[in-house]
Amino acid sequence: MLTMKDIIREGNPTLRAVCDEVPVPLTAEDIQLGKDMLEFLHNSQDPEMAEKYELRGGVGLAAPQLDIKKRIIALLVPSNNPEKPEPILETVMYNPKIVSHSVQDACLADGEGCLSVDREVPGYVVRHARVTVAYTDMNGETQKIRLKNYPAIVVQHEIDHLNGVMFYDHINAKNPFSLDKDVLVLE
Ligand code: CO
Repeated sequence: MLTMKDIIREGNPTLRAVCDEVPVPLTAEDIQLGKDMLEFLHNSQDPEMAEKYELRGGVGLAAPQLDIKKRIIALLVPSNNPEKPEPILETVMYNPKIVSHSVQDACLADGEGCLSVDREVPGYVVRHARVTVAYTDMNGETQKIRLKNYPAIVVQHEIDHLNGVMFYDHINAKNPFSLDKDVLVLE
């Protein structure tokens, strides 16, 4: 199983690389990698496993964070509704691509964090409020999904990793908490 030891941290040049497309049909190795990445996220959100293996909680992971320059991301966005405990988003995406997005922008009120960044970086990370993402799923099938608000922010953070972009690249260095008036601030 993957642990924090497998995750590279900022300063490693792989985090600044543009990753390679994954060949389709998927190889058994790439399918297994996607499964391992999703399993890491499950473990990181499980209080017992997280404590036992000292995992930081994560909702997304990109292959370059494992020092693998492939366009693969895993997403596990938990429910915030106890009546509906199933995750809002649980998937592995191969070669994800934003095919359209809203004009409206959004950011998280509390900023963003990253498993590859061992420090707080305060500031608004402004992204698209809604995105449509095309990707290949673990079965090798082409999918298209429309996401809004928090899951849309998470998928954009992870796709950025495939292009060597870190979340703090989007923070206004001079004025980290300045915002245009029409940006949606997600609590
Ligand atoms: Co990250």
